[in-house]
Amino acid sequence: MSLQAVGVLGTGRYVPERVLTNHELEKMVDTNDEWIVTRTGIRERRIAAPEQASSDLAYEASKIALDKAGISPEEIDLIIVATITPDMSFPSTACILQDKLGAKKAAAFDLSAACSGFIYSLANASNFIATGTYKYALVVGAECLSKITDYTDRNTCILFGDGAGAVVLGPVAEGRGFKSFELGADGTGGPLLKVEAGGSRCPASPQSLEGKQHFIYMAGAEVFKFAVRIMGSAAEDALRKAGIDKSDVDLLVPHQANIRIIQSALQRLALSEDKCMINLHKYGNVSAASIPIALAEADEEGRLKEGDCVVLVGFGGGLTWGASVLVW
Ligand code: ACO
Repeated sequence: MSLQAVGVLGTGRYVPERVLTNHELEKMVDTNDEWIVTRTGIRERRIAAPEQASSDLAYEASKIALDKAGISPEEIDLIIVATITPDMSFPSTACILQDKLGAKKAAAFDLSAACSGFIYSLANASNFIATGTYKYALVVGAECLSKITDYTDRNTCILFGDGAGAVVLGPVAEGRGFKSFELGADGTGGPLLKVEAGGSRCPASPQSLEGKQHFIYMAGAEVFKFAVRIMGSAAEDALRKAGIDKSDVDLLVPHQANIRIIQSALQRLALSEDKCMINLHKYGNVSAASIPIALAEADEEGRLKEGDCVVLVGFGGGLTWGASVLVW
């Protein structure tokens, strides 16, 4: 069976209006702008309004992506939302989004792979289209990390922000679109990055609230070491699978966790910083939303030209990682 070439038909992003700067964080925890900038590269992040949930951010980003693709919600066959901050346990955020958009014929589900979730979701959706099961898919990364962040914990609260990015996937001409996916997981590293309570292991209770177990816990230094190792190797593996040399990469769109992690990936791939989309200074780490927001912003800035070789790469809780090579 010959496979249909699948690519990105439109991109969109949305970030909430409220900006939380490093200087404001100085007043909340024992930190300072200089420490945050030199250790992470982050200067500010966006914070959702109390009434905003992930599906609201996803909806705004999706409308833009659909508009750019020239595809109506009724034409969408599949919606996947990558998120670790769903509106609620169930129904899925994807079903809530399907309703908001009026995408009546779309199958819809959430995908949980933390910051790698968007690349995992792209792999899923593109396979459905490549095999002819579906024609158009909406893939969204949407997060309200501020809602699960402890703003008394300086180890984590300086890192995270809120936002959403979306892409519409569909058939493209032979030679363009996704060339490879490289996905991986190492469950032994699960305890390094987690929200412990609220699931079936540790349901919500007065004790779980007291113990702040509904907030993100992160062993930062260990995650950092893992990230430095995996970002370069996952991107290299995806390029090898695609049969493309790293010298032919036009743009790297990495997960925006820490500028030092991005720089180490650039070094390994022998790429200069002008071949990399970096926006973490404005938005911080937005988990599953960070790659699609960066991709949409690169698109807006005219940094994606037809025929360009684009590499997406991310890592996150699970532990998980993912990389993809596509010809724009
Ligand atoms: N301000 C000032 N000092 C701080 C802060 C802060 N905000 N946070 C930590 N420190 C202190 C520490 O307490 C420590 O002090 P000590 O030496 O007296 O104990 C010192 O700074 C150094 O701490 P380290 O943890 O060694 O700092 P490091 O250089 O590793 O940077 C950071 C910490 C930024 C968290 C880094 O480890 C990192 O980026 N890790 C990866 C995080 C990540 O990418 N997560 C992604 C996944 S998110 C997801 O999947 C949802």
